[in-house]
Amino acid sequence: MTTYKFPHNFLWGAATAAYQIEGAWNEDVKGESIWDRFSHTLGKIEDNSTGDVACDHYHRYDEDIALMRRLGLNAYRFSIAWTRILPLGAGNVNPGGLDFYDRLVDVLCAANIEPLLTLHHWDYPQALYEAGGWISRTNLHHFADYAAVVAKRLGDRVKYWATFNEPGVIAWDGYVSGEHAPGEQDPNKAKQVAHNLMVAHGLAVQAIRGIEPNLKAGIVLNQWMSDAADDDPQSICNAESAWNRSETTFLHPIFKGYYHPEYIEFAGGLPEIQAGDMALIAQKLDFLGVNFYSRNLYNAQGHVDEVSGSEYTEMGWEVCAPALRRMLNKINNDYEVPPIYITENGASFPDEVSADGKIHDTRRLDYLKQHFIQTRLAMQDGVDVRGYMVWSLMDNFEWGHGYTKRFGIIRVDYETQKRTLKDSGEWYAKVIASNSVDE
Ligand code: FCB
Repeated sequence: MTTYKFPHNFLWGAATAAYQIEGAWNEDVKGESIWDRFSHTLGKIEDNSTGDVACDHYHRYDEDIALMRRLGLNAYRFSIAWTRILPLGAGNVNPGGLDFYDRLVDVLCAANIEPLLTLHHWDYPQALYEAGGWISRTNLHHFADYAAVVAKRLGDRVKYWATFNEPGVIAWDGYVSGEHAPGEQDPNKAKQVAHNLMVAHGLAVQAIRGIEPNLKAGIVLNQWMSDAADDDPQSICNAESAWNRSETTFLHPIFKGYYHPEYIEFAGGLPEIQAGDMALIAQKLDFLGVNFYSRNLYNAQGHVDEVSGSEYTEMGWEVCAPALRRMLNKINNDYEVPPIYITENGASFPDEVSADGKIHDTRRLDYLKQHFIQTRLAMQDGVDVRGYMVWSLMDNFEWGHGYTKRFGIIRVDYETQKRTLKDSGEWYAKVIASNSVDE
């Protein structure tokens, strides 16, 4: 047996996002977000569900934090619902919205759980969308103003501030495939949205630091490793150009200050860039959040859609933990990156409640174990990884898939809102207690 020990100050946490767990979609003066609108539109969500109630975390956060304590988490990543704070996205601040997160953070701190806050995890204010959305430069400043309002209230207790979760998904799923809110299909617009999100990120970083210079500002990117299936030079070339075309979209501007030429070519030219944009985007960050789920594989012919012998999750994503180690090394070699946090990693599998009332989710447990180990190996290779947030703390509303996909280490019975720790959760508690993983 090999034991992989982690550094003593390593952050072990779990992640969630406001729209996926909170519910209370129109309570206490909360405004409408594009996800409220989208899920209320028939035909958009696989099971015709909505996030109206979700895990009812808005009312049950105490119970949920008690479960975090039971797991022994020393960190928790969550996002703020912008429209709780500013119902119209800009203008009037709703004190009730701020109060909710204030209480949440207080309870987390009392439990010695480090809060990692994400300002925007996709639930964009509907009112701002109608006023030009991410295309409007004025709205980019509204995001920075929102960041400042939240930082002013929570900056005395929350150290880690991520501006965006997965800007790529906002741009491509929201504006190309249309599978996410707001459901548009316009690649040129998507390219501009992607750029403007980075400008908004830069403005928000300045706003956060303007409130409290010691806050740690960063961004969360989802990256899929690009692997070659064999050592045929054509396979290697295919894997590399796929990475350059799609995985450098945000990494390059943020850490180098310019777009990768292969991305520009693939995207059919640059977006509209205003003077000062690139410097704003490339401001030094205090951390990089990496969300990792899977990889893409290429042979000489192109993308390998079905990797024989590989396990796949319910999302249809290949399980390949060593790709995480390779990817962390690649990012570390290609860019001058600040400390990295794995801000999401996890798997959806068809869980069953056994006769003993337990959820023996061996496949999820094994998925997490392999990814923890590969992260530890990447750290030995020299990558500075400081923490790990499992996706997700509990089963929740999985966007276009509704409640059909379960990612939690805690099961949620949506009828009764009963929470049950799965085997993966019990196992995770042991990992955290011993600060090590046994293989
Ligand atoms: C990520 C999202 C997160 C969740 C997982 C499965 O792309 O950030 O909200 O949906 O995928």
